[in-house]
Amino acid sequence: LTHLLTLEGLLKEQIVHILDTAQQFVSVTDPAREVKKVPLLRGKSVFNLFFENSTRTRTTFEIAAKRLSADVINLDISTSSTAKGESLIDTIDNLIAMQADIFVVRHSVSRAPIEIANHVPPYVHVINAGDGSHQHPTQGLLDMYTMRHFKQDFTKLKVAIVGDIVHSRVAKSNIHALTALGCTDIRVIGPESLLPNDLDMLGVKVFHSMEEGLRGVDVVMTLRIQKERMEAGKVPEGAAFFAQFGLTPERLALAKPDAIVMHPGPMNRGVEIDSKVADGAQSVILKQVTFGIAVRMAVMSIVAGN
Ligand code: CP
Repeated sequence: LTHLLTLEGLLKEQIVHILDTAQQFVSVTDPAREVKKVPLLRGKSVFNLFFENSTRTRTTFEIAAKRLSADVINLDISTSSTAKGESLIDTIDNLIAMQADIFVVRHSVSRAPIEIANHVPPYVHVINAGDGSHQHPTQGLLDMYTMRHFKQDFTKLKVAIVGDIVHSRVAKSNIHALTALGCTDIRVIGPESLLPNDLDMLGVKVFHSMEEGLRGVDVVMTLRIQKERMEAGKVPEGAAFFAQFGLTPERLALAKPDAIVMHPGPMNRGVEIDSKVADGAQSVILKQVTFGIAVRMAVMSIVAGN
């Protein structure tokens, strides 16, 4: 794996290798620090290029790179020469001239990280940190890590993904990864207007009712409504969405009693999820964030050839 651009087409063995590698980075000897520091990327430079906002992904990539002993450069896009009209590829060329080894790229334009990967020399690696509505591969991987941690066997899992699927790069990465890992009961729940029309091709079950879709599932993943990717006037009203698709304690009770609740963040409480669920005993939302450090360490160390 030279770059990580998408989970589509990744083999089960490749995903399992990343998850197993991540597991090695989670300390079993030091419960106070969940992720060990190792020298695998000493002397390498990781450039974080976030052309879209981020809290979790940017920060955990920075922590992960530092735990791998890399030098980390967070380019502040808002004060960079992008604002003066410099093209993406010219920016990349200049950063390569500064001896960049790994680019971690978030961009509002779908496939922008692929464009960069097609341009860079073979010794430079590109990791997609979320591109438009296309893919968020490291989020998909940390979600798989979380599900495996709590539920072990993907072939027995029933997984429901709820909300704005059409604009969600997280949903797409999760569906590809779950399919590769042998999950045969993937459900998407949402209004017609927020579901893509190629879901049949992806082999998922479609529900327009929480009461039907959540019955007996092991994992419930709720998603934010991505207003920034919607046309003005087409954004669903929050209270109306919550009334029909919000994850409440009553609706969660339809899932298996030991079902876990996931959310990639950021959450909009009272829109896609009730605070009683987000902060409840079944929520593993903050564990997802912590696992993200080890998973991103694994991805960076693998693409860099360790
Ligand atoms: N899950 C996720 O991508 O969160 P951020 O936008 O905060 O990085």
